[in-house]
Amino acid sequence: MIDGAVRSEAEFPALQHLLGLEGLTRGEISSILDLSTRMKEIGERPLKKVPSLRGKTVCTLFVEASTRTRTSFEVAAKRLSADTMSLTASASSLTKGETLLDTAKNLEAMGPDIIILRHSAAGAPHFLARHVRAAVVNAGDGRHEHPTQGLLDLFTIRERLGRLEGLEVAIVGDVANSRVARSNIFALRTMGAKVRLSGPATMMPPGLEALGVTPCRRIEEAIDGADVVMMLRIQKERMGSDLFPSDREYFRCFGLTRERLKRARPHVLVMHPGPINRGVEITPDVADGPESVILEQVTNGVAVRMAVLYVLAHRQGRAS
Ligand code: CP
Repeated sequence: MIDGAVRSEAEFPALQHLLGLEGLTRGEISSILDLSTRMKEIGERPLKKVPSLRGKTVCTLFVEASTRTRTSFEVAAKRLSADTMSLTASASSLTKGETLLDTAKNLEAMGPDIIILRHSAAGAPHFLARHVRAAVVNAGDGRHEHPTQGLLDLFTIRERLGRLEGLEVAIVGDVANSRVARSNIFALRTMGAKVRLSGPATMMPPGLEALGVTPCRRIEEAIDGADVVMMLRIQKERMGSDLFPSDREYFRCFGLTRERLKRARPHVLVMHPGPINRGVEITPDVADGPESVILEQVTNGVAVRMAVLYVLAHRQGRAS
């Protein structure tokens, strides 16, 4: 049973929408992770479906490409028995010049309870949330945030290592362009983990210390004694110009190899949000090795997104 899992609305005061992890409290994050555990159990049953969101409609609007996030939101909605509407930019009238707001208003006219938006512009989900009645979930907005990726990463770490408090987490790569890094930094710091960042100087934004993280010039410094090594994708689509000389040079300086991984704690988890650039960000033997939880992250993404949909529908009095 899932209903009753959300104990009271007072535990989720900020979740009219899920636009980012910045500002969420430790209690709110813990509650979503706890609920995700129950949702994961549903995914392990022979019949992977509960009626919690029966009669509700979830709309995915992806104006940027996605494999994992879009499909896992759809699976999550279906496991909760919601109806789904799915729109991608290339198959929509956005290609004919219709604005995002007009697109959203027309979709809303069909009565979705929750709209999930991915967009290349930072702040697009916030804009939408001001103009539609439905709850809005940010599925990644430019360089800003990717809150459900952050939550599924925390869920995976907590499930594997039993805690978040006090863990040493190394985040390595294209920090400046990564919404995954930002969501993880906010949530990991809130949950008491220590975060070290490393990447090419051109990919490290200024003012990192203000976020309570430790910048490391070399990847080896970041990995030394780490409990978790989270590699980031190089976001070539967000770079105005080349930020490193070549893929080979990037790999030489910041690629995760088995040799470098030896510096981490024996129980280290290797994570990557995907898609992976094999042989550039990470070697195949590490990506597919025993320390890797990359595919577990994908599995857990369904459970976490079920929890987010459930909480938002419940908050709006929409869950059965
Ligand atoms: N991690 C992630 O956001 O992957 P997709 O771009 O495939 O959704």
